[in-house]
Amino acid sequence: MEIKKVGVVGCGIMGSGITEVCARAGYQVVVREVNDELLKKGLDRIKESMSKAVSRGKLTQAEMDAAWARIKGTTSMEDFADCDLVIEAVVENLELKKQVFSELDRITPPHAILASNTSSLCITAMAAVTKRPDKVLGLHFFNPVPIMPLLEMVTTILTSEETVEIARKFGESLGKTIVVAKDSPGFIVNALLIPFLLDAVRMVESGYATKEDIDTAIKLGLNHPMGPLTLLDLVGLDTTLYIADAMYEELKDPRYVAPPLLRRMVLAGKLGRKSGEGFYKYS
Ligand code: CAA
Repeated sequence: MEIKKVGVVGCGIMGSGITEVCARAGYQVVVREVNDELLKKGLDRIKESMSKAVSRGKLTQAEMDAAWARIKGTTSMEDFADCDLVIEAVVENLELKKQVFSELDRITPPHAILASNTSSLCITAMAAVTKRPDKVLGLHFFNPVPIMPLLEMVTTILTSEETVEIARKFGESLGKTIVVAKDSPGFIVNALLIPFLLDAVRMVESGYATKEDIDTAIKLGLNHPMGPLTLLDLVGLDTTLYIADAMYEELKDPRYVAPPLLRRMVLAGKLGRKSGEGFYKYS
């Protein structure tokens, strides 16, 4: 089975990035948002990112125009009817994701592979609401999707070898390096990253060190491209909280307990870059 047309459910930070890399790799892409306003916001984000790639010499204007022409935005799930692969990138809510998978199973052709970009939720639970659990897996991209070279491929005990091979070829065609993870909470990256981010918040909360010093220590002491609090602002405090809660819910491991400060910042609307303020302010 050859993948020609890709569907992306959700055009937020991750969905727009996934749409961009698929279109740049030559795939026809249909991306769906719940309303015209969010769709426009997502499509504008893609255009801005590709323009940045052009200005940095990573893409020619002609390549950008061709990639842009391969993207179709929609507010209707029915537009996934001729997709060979659909990647779900809606908010981290398992009930919502199960609903999306059930709809995708009804709408897409029987050969289509259904993937989730979830950071931590159970892929098996999404597969179980479809009649094609052998064609369901996780394709977990990293933010910012056009720049980050990793793709975590998450297989369940129901995913077929054929699906894994098609998905692997697809991921490589996007220029990503693939690692394979089991369907256990947080997969590889977040199982390690989330406790690190939560500990950084606990340090701020307890007055152990300033946020600037924590970030500088990790940047200059470990050569990370950004410190944990800057990274939290990039990932989104709300997304990090969803992931931590989902991991704690399943594992009951205290490493994944969200510190009160994180929960309160989310309640206060300080979500990071996307809301203009998190641990730092953004204009
Ligand atoms: N397309 C292609 N390339 C692009 C681009 C685009 N739209 N925009 C920028 N680039 C290129 C730039 O040209 C530059 O390339 P060179 O190094 O060859 O010059 C490179 O990407 C870096 O771009 P910038 O100079 O704009 O950015 P930077 O150097 O300040 O780095 C960063 C920004 C890549 C975000 C870096 O700080 C970083 O890697 N941070 C860590 C990000 C991270 O850890 N992400 C994972 C989060 S966890 C997650 O996503 C999963 C989860 O489930 C929570």
